[in-house]
Amino acid sequence: MTADLSGRTALVTGSTSGIGRATARLLASLGAHVIVSGRNAERGGETVDGIRAAGGKADFVAADLNDLDSLGSLAERATEIGGQVDILVNNAGIYPFGASSDATAADFDAVYDANVKAPFFLTNALAPAMAARGHGAVVNFSTALATKGTAGASLYASSKAAVESLTKVWSAEYGPSGVRVNAVKPGPIATEGTAPYGDGMDAFHAGSPAGRLGQPDEVAATVAFLVSDDARYIHGAVIPVDGGVGTL
Ligand SMILES: NC(=O)c1ccc[n+]([C@@H]2O[C@H](COP(=O)([O-])OP(=O)(O)OC[C@H]3O[C@@H](n4cnc5c(N)ncnc54)[C@H](OP(=O)(O)O)[C@@H]3O)[C@@H](O)[C@H]2O)c1
Repeated sequence: MTADLSGRTALVTGSTSGIGRATARLLASLGAHVIVSGRNAERGGETVDGIRAAGGKADFVAADLNDLDSLGSLAERATEIGGQVDILVNNAGIYPFGASSDATAADFDAVYDANVKAPFFLTNALAPAMAARGHGAVVNFSTALATKGTAGASLYASSKAAVESLTKVWSAEYGPSGVRVNAVKPGPIATEGTAPYGDGMDAFHAGSPAGRLGQPDEVAATVAFLVSDDARYIHGAVIPVDGGVGTL
């Protein structure tokens, strides 16, 4: 990866863990000033320290994306720190599983607040300024499950299907102003979030071309490509990074 992101500020939500943290590290190594975010200040501080120790630029801004005030403050603070936000990576998300018939209204709201409402309003807060400057990139996060019929995945899969739809709608809205909006669609990736599922994760990649779990940096590499100028003709794409799970 040789992309040069110097002079750009990148806000990566959910970068205190897993794929978001790997993305924050990679974007910083390519020259971006990265705003690391999440609720956990200790893990956020560790991520920032690691980036700075490697010679990169990063700052942590705590935010609970389920709280619209906190989300608004994150957008403001990231803009203040970076001068502007050029790159938004809507990575933060949750993925509880369970039978549809067991889901409560609170379960529904928790998943849709984190996975749909938060990226919706964070993009609203930041993309218009990118459009006014005529340059910017947004990367959303779907999942291989969004377009599969997996029992127990109703809230998660449908919330991410909404994210895929938003990716295309935002491309139409912001693309003509120079803001590219794309998404990655990961398969099973080994992160802190998926660790509790243990061997159960292997069922997701059984029989797939890669035949193994993916690693966070394998998704981060695609995010870095999508936000770079190398991807300047890519708008509204939803790119699988799933070891071929989507082909099954
Ligand atoms: N891992 C996979 O197999 C896989 C597969 C397909 C798609 N994905 C998608 O990839 C993304 C990252 O997954 P991951 O496995 O890397 O996740 P993870 O290890 O569980 O980390 C989730 C991140 O999101 C943040 N977050 C969650 N709720 C938040 C909230 N209310 N406010 C602020 N931050 C919040 C967490 O920060 P704090 O804990 O600091 O709040 C954490 O940094 C998600 O969108 C997920 O749906 C993952």
